[in-house]
Amino acid sequence: PRKFFVGGNFKMNGTIKSIKAIVDNLNQANLDSNVEVVVAPPALYLLLVRDSLKAQIEVAAQNVYDQPDGAFTGEISAHQLGDSNITWTILGHSERRTLLGESDAVVSSKTKYALDNGLGVIWCCGETLEQREASLTVAVVTGQLASLKETLGTDAAAWAKVVIAYEPIWAIGTGKVATTEQAQEVHAAIRNWLSDKVSPAVAEATRILYGGSVNEKNCKDLAKQADIDGFLVGGASLKPGFVEIVNCNL
Ligand code: 13P
Repeated sequence: PRKFFVGGNFKMNGTIKSIKAIVDNLNQANLDSNVEVVVAPPALYLLLVRDSLKAQIEVAAQNVYDQPDGAFTGEISAHQLGDSNITWTILGHSERRTLLGESDAVVSSKTKYALDNGLGVIWCCGETLEQREASLTVAVVTGQLASLKETLGTDAAAWAKVVIAYEPIWAIGTGKVATTEQAQEVHAAIRNWLSDKVSPAVAEATRILYGGSVNEKNCKDLAKQADIDGFLVGGASLKPGFVEIVNCNL
């Protein structure tokens, strides 16, 4: 059985004050112990969050570079994250792919580097509205996955540290959540693809998260779908209702 996983992606939001309030709220909450919870604050606040958040909750960066150190102005390395007790990173988020121009090749290289250096990776994929309307959803998502597989191969140990987040771009920050059927259909396609191209064991073990306008109201029905193993939550992770999303199976 796959352990349910709920990630909170704060994106470029928060202040010292508001992030301390989020941490206090999470520290006081009774969280379902069957759920792996990971929060991803902006880089500037990673240490503040790691030092003040209870150990039950893990902390992720929102990005990491694929070199150990050196002249890479503005970047942070996997070594530096490890040194700071940050155990996860998000990679391949659509906002970085579109706004920062990260290609499949860049995302795959960063993913490999992060895994080789001990980080878990929340690896994101998803289609635009135009691609969905052209019935290209599964082709786009499996194309992104194929690039990742080129780098990771069929190594089950590497895949075990990857969590896949399916985030349809049209559902991110729009309030337009995918229907349970739309999400389940893509999640099942991702799992089939993994089974065919990587291995049935990796397909069975890999957590596939849904992301895009998840909130405390729509999470319960989504969580009941056979191939939805958790969520990557944006806006709602900044609010007290995030606890209800973590506890959606109770
Ligand atoms: P929202 O939950 O704000 O739609 O964001 C989803 C997301 O992009 C999480 O990475």
